[in-house]
Amino acid sequence: RRKSICFCVTLNCFFLYYLDFLLLCCCFFSLCSLSEVTCPLMSLCLFRHGDRSPVQAYPTDSYQESSWPQGFGQLSQEGMRQHFELGQYLRSRYRAFLNESYDRHEIMVRSTDYDRTLMSAEANLAGLYPPQGGQVFRPGLKWQPIPVHTVPLSEEKLLSFPMHDCPRYKQLMNETTHTEEINHLLVWFQDFLHFINNKTGLKNISVENVWVVYDTLFCESRHNMTPPAWVTPDTIKNLSLLKDFSFQAMFGVYKQQEKSRLQGGLLLGAIVKNLSRMAIPDPKQRLKVVMLSAHDTTLSALQTSMNIYNNKQPPYASCQMIELRRDDNGSSWVSMFYRNDSSKDPYPLQLPGCSQLDCPLEEFIRLTKASIPEDRDRECELTSSDSDKEIIIGLALSACVLLFLIILLLTIFCWKREPQSSHGYQHVVNVEAAAHS
Ligand SMILES: *[C@@H]1O[C@H](CO)[C@@H](O)[C@H](O)[C@H]1NC(C)=O
Ligand SMILES: *[C@@H]1O[C@H](CO)[C@@H](O)[C@H](O)[C@H]1NC(C)=O
Ligand SMILES: *[C@@H]1O[C@H](CO)[C@@H](O)[C@H](O)[C@H]1NC(C)=O
Ligand SMILES: *[C@@H]1O[C@H](CO)[C@@H](O)[C@H](O)[C@H]1NC(C)=O
Ligand SMILES: *[C@@H]1O[C@H](CO)[C@@H](O)[C@H](O)[C@H]1NC(C)=O
Ligand SMILES: *[C@@H]1O[C@H](CO)[C@@H](O)[C@H](O)[C@H]1NC(C)=O
Ligand SMILES: *[C@@H]1O[C@H](CO)[C@@H](O)[C@H](O)[C@H]1NC(C)=O
Ligand SMILES: *[C@@H]1O[C@H](CO)[C@@H](O)[C@H](O)[C@H]1NC(C)=O
Repeated sequence: RRKSICFCVTLNCFFLYYLDFLLLCCCFFSLCSLSEVTCPLMSLCLFRHGDRSPVQAYPTDSYQESSWPQGFGQLSQEGMRQHFELGQYLRSRYRAFLNESYDRHEIMVRSTDYDRTLMSAEANLAGLYPPQGGQVFRPGLKWQPIPVHTVPLSEEKLLSFPMHDCPRYKQLMNETTHTEEINHLLVWFQDFLHFINNKTGLKNISVENVWVVYDTLFCESRHNMTPPAWVTPDTIKNLSLLKDFSFQAMFGVYKQQEKSRLQGGLLLGAIVKNLSRMAIPDPKQRLKVVMLSAHDTTLSALQTSMNIYNNKQPPYASCQMIELRRDDNGSSWVSMFYRNDSSKDPYPLQLPGCSQLDCPLEEFIRLTKASIPEDRDRECELTSSDSDKEIIIGLALSACVLLFLIILLLTIFCWKREPQSSHGYQHVVNVEAAAHS
């Protein structure tokens, strides 16, 4: 089926050059109604930022922050190119779906509040929406501003993983480090980790944080910086293996489903909610593409929560697409693609447990339900401080009531001893008035 579409697209190009406009229109319309492949109802694209400088250097590193033009953790020109290319790819993929001219109702872009993700989204949109006709605001400039939304990091509850506001998750990670699997790795790589600690001058490198060393060396090699003598292809191989494992362990390996409910399941929940909403026909609904600009850990958190993670750190500018389609009978389908290599077609991914590659929406919702938290705060055991507050308020209230009763009893006692005096009655009224204020 894909082949025939490609053929149709090629034909389209042919028509574009040699036949008249009417014919082009006809072919476009038939392309759209015949093939659900090119015409989803809605598409979500979650991507990692592009090539960047390392986020830190190790103490003995000869390339410290000043070696990088913009310092640590910043998008490079290569990263900009990668995202521009991804934007162009999305333009060609959604040619028959997303209007070529920018329409603010059709696309919603959100990024985490990091320079590199914000800039990646901007570079991507430059590739997706080169201005034409009336949208050109300065002749010769093939760029137009497109809004990218974000929230401060302290309020980011959708795209930044792992979220650290979760005691239960911390406990699960502690338990993960004591599992057979990690202990086995630790024993196997003990000498290697000592070697890395010694060479890098870091004191506490372990299986969980060794990716930091890999990342720095990887970034430096990408930018043609000479590695120190101890960095051999074998060292890189070991580091890469440990790095991939630490990515796996963050959201999986041990109690994966519970970890997902505390992490990636939050994003999955938001996505499933949107898919369900978009599946209901609504002429007022004009949103077509949701673009999320984030990190490797965001991709692995989401993919792990759906059990489609390939256990490899997501490369730069890799993009997870989730597309919703509706067939002639009015039923909706969810299909997923992972573009982790710009030289290849995106990999179609099947949701485990689903009967088909394109998963019926109801089945998709049913299968993902277990990974989506119903009440994350409670599941994170964040409510303990709240319940502490409740106990304190409760105690204070009981103390008040007790005090009131004692005063009441004392007053009655006094009044009984002096029944003829009206003074006691007055006193009770005063106490009651005080208790109500
Ligand atoms: C695309 O947008 C232009 C300008 O807003 C509009 O005239 C045109 O009809 C739109 N095309 C489609 C296919 O929606
Ligand atoms: C991890 O759990 C063990 C007991 O299982 C406990 O002794 C240790 O303090 C915990 N470590 C952290 C960092 O919470
Ligand atoms: C990689 O790790 C293995 C297993 O610990 C070890 O035998 C080997 O020497 C390591 N390679 C390097 C280059 O350190
Ligand atoms: C690494 O080990 C060597 C030999 O044991 C020692 O001389 C050197 O100071 C160590 N380097 C660091 C950074 O700890
Ligand atoms: C090593 O430990 C120190 C203090 O215990 C901590 O500040 C630092 O972040 C740790 N380094 C890594 C790479 O985890
Ligand atoms: C869900 O849809 C709303 C718009 O209807 C959009 O603002 C939001 O970013 C979407 N969220 C996700 C995770 O798709
Ligand atoms: C991309 O993802 C596919 C499917 O999970 C996997 O087979 C392939 O090895 C990945 N390639 C890269 C470069 O990560
Ligand atoms: C619509 O439903 C009918 C009967 O259930 C089925 O035979 C047909 O294949 C469906 N069409 C599509 C496009 O799914």
